[in-house]
Amino acid sequence: MSLMRTEVSFAPLAGIATELLVVLAVDTQTEKGTNAKPAPAILTSDAAIRSAAGSILSSGEFKAGANETVLIHGPAGLAAKRLLIVGLGRQTKVTTHKVRNAAGTAVRYAKPRGIRQLVLALPDSDSLAYAAAARASVEGAFVGDFDPDTYRSDRKDQSIQSFTLAAPANADRAAVESAVAEGSIIGECQNFTRSLVNEPGNKLTPTILGRRAAEMAQQVGLQSEVHSTDRLHELKMGAFWAVSQGSAEPPALIVLRYTPEGVTDGPIVGLVGKGITFDTGGISIKPADNMEKMKYDMAGGAAMLGAMRAIALLKPRVRVIAIVCAAENMPSGTAQKPGDVQTAMPIAPDKPGKTIEVINTDAEGRMVLADGLTYARQLGATHLIDAATLTGAISVALGKITGGSFSNDDAAYSKFEQALEISGEKFWRLPLGEEYAELIKSDIGDIKNTGGRFGGAITAAEFLHHFAEDTPWVHLDIAGIAWVEDSRPFIAKGPSGIAVRSILEWVRSF
Ligand code: BES
Ligand code: MN
Ligand code: ZN
Repeated sequence: MSLMRTEVSFAPLAGIATELLVVLAVDTQTEKGTNAKPAPAILTSDAAIRSAAGSILSSGEFKAGANETVLIHGPAGLAAKRLLIVGLGRQTKVTTHKVRNAAGTAVRYAKPRGIRQLVLALPDSDSLAYAAAARASVEGAFVGDFDPDTYRSDRKDQSIQSFTLAAPANADRAAVESAVAEGSIIGECQNFTRSLVNEPGNKLTPTILGRRAAEMAQQVGLQSEVHSTDRLHELKMGAFWAVSQGSAEPPALIVLRYTPEGVTDGPIVGLVGKGITFDTGGISIKPADNMEKMKYDMAGGAAMLGAMRAIALLKPRVRVIAIVCAAENMPSGTAQKPGDVQTAMPIAPDKPGKTIEVINTDAEGRMVLADGLTYARQLGATHLIDAATLTGAISVALGKITGGSFSNDDAAYSKFEQALEISGEKFWRLPLGEEYAELIKSDIGDIKNTGGRFGGAITAAEFLHHFAEDTPWVHLDIAGIAWVEDSRPFIAKGPSGIAVRSILEWVRSF
C-alpha cells in the first residue's frame, strides 16, 4: 500500500487548486416535527466558499446529517475542480470524533472516483479546537484510506496520495502542524494494526507475526525479542504452551521494549496482547459458520504492536514493555483436552504457578494472557493494559458497537477514560467482583477456564484478574468491535484497528 502524504496549508481556500476541496457543515435546525426545515451551515468563514455552496445549502437537498455528502462540480469562484460538503450532524452534538469520521467519509468518497488528492478545510467552529480537530481529521483520513482487498489479483490501488489540511490563517501554525504530524503517525499505526489483523491464518502464523513485529521494531528503533517453545518451557508458561501444543505451528512470545533516553525510574507500562493467529476452538471445536473470522483473534496483539510503533515515533517519557502471546488454537492428537489441568507461569521461581482446569479448550485467550500478564509483571511492569478478542459474550452485552473494559484500579481507569476522550473510541466499564470470581473456582485445582453462560465476559476478566493480581490493570475485550461487519461511509468492512489510539493515549498519560 502506498503511503498517504499529509500536508498543511494556511492559504485562503478559494485559491487552492485541487481535485477535491472538502468543507464540513452542521445542521443548525432546532425545530422538530412537520415545521422543521433543514438548516445546514458551512463551517468556514471563507466568503468564496460560502457563496459557492450557497444555492445547494438553501435548496433543502442537503441536510448536513452525519457523513451525508453533496458534491459541486466546477464551483464558481474557486480554484478547486470540485467542492465536497460533508455533514457533521446536529450542531449541538458536534464532537472532534465526528470530524474524524467526516474526514474518513471524504476520503472514501474520493477513492472509487479516481481522486488521489484532496484538501480538507479545518472546520471553523466555537465547539472545536483547531489542533484536536486537525489531528482527528488526519487520523480519520488514514482510517478511510484503508481497504482490505489486498489479495485480489486484479486489485487497483485506489489509495489517496496526498491529503492536505487547510487551516484558517488565524490558527496557531505550529500547533496545527504538529497535530497533523501526530495524526499521521497515529493513523498510519492504526492501519499497520489493521493490515496485520486482515492477514489470513495461513499467511500470518505465530512465527510470521513474530517476524513482522521484529521488522517493525527494527524500523522504528524498539528493542525486540521473539521466543518460541523452548523459552516457554524455561519460563514455565504452562498455560500459554497448553494452547499451542495442538498446533504444528510453534508459538511466538513477542517482547518489545521502549526505553526513552535518560528515563531510569517511574512507572513501567506493560501492554499484553492476545495473538491467536487462528482460533478453531481446539478439541472444543467451533461450528463451521463464521469460523473463517477467527483469523482476527490476534487483533489485541496487533493493537499492541500498532500502539508500540506509535510510541516509538511519538516518544513519550515513560518506559513501556509489550508482550504478545501468539499461538494457533488447533485440535489434534497433541492438543489439550477438556479436563486437563495446566500450571500457569509462577510470578517468582520459588512460588507455585496457579493451576487451571480446562473446561473448554475454546477459552484459550485467557490462558495465553495469563502467562503474558505474569511475564510482564516479572519484567517489572507497574501498570498493565491488555487487549483481546476474548469473548462472544461481550457482544451480547454491548453489541458490536462498544468495547468492554474492566479494571482493578480506579486511578488507572480514570486515565483510560481520559484517553477515550482523545481517541474517540467507545468502551464501557463492566464490573469485577468476588461473586463473579466464585464462578471460576475449580474443584480439582485453583481456577477453571470458563464460568458458565451468564456474565461470560466478566468471568473471563476475573480469570485474568488472577494474574494481574494487585498490579493496576485495565482489560479491554474487543471481540465485538475488532472487525467492522458492514462498511460505513468512513471505514471499510474489515479490521477496525480498535484500541490502538486509546492504548497509546493511556501510555502517554503516565
Ligand atoms: N476468540 C473467541 C472469542 C470471539 C468470539 C472473538 C467471536 C471474536 C468473535 C474466544 O477464544 C472464545 O472462543 N471464547 C469463548 C469462551 C467460552 C468457551 C467460555 C466464547 O466466547 O464463546
Ligand atoms: Mn476460543
Ligand atoms: Zn479466541
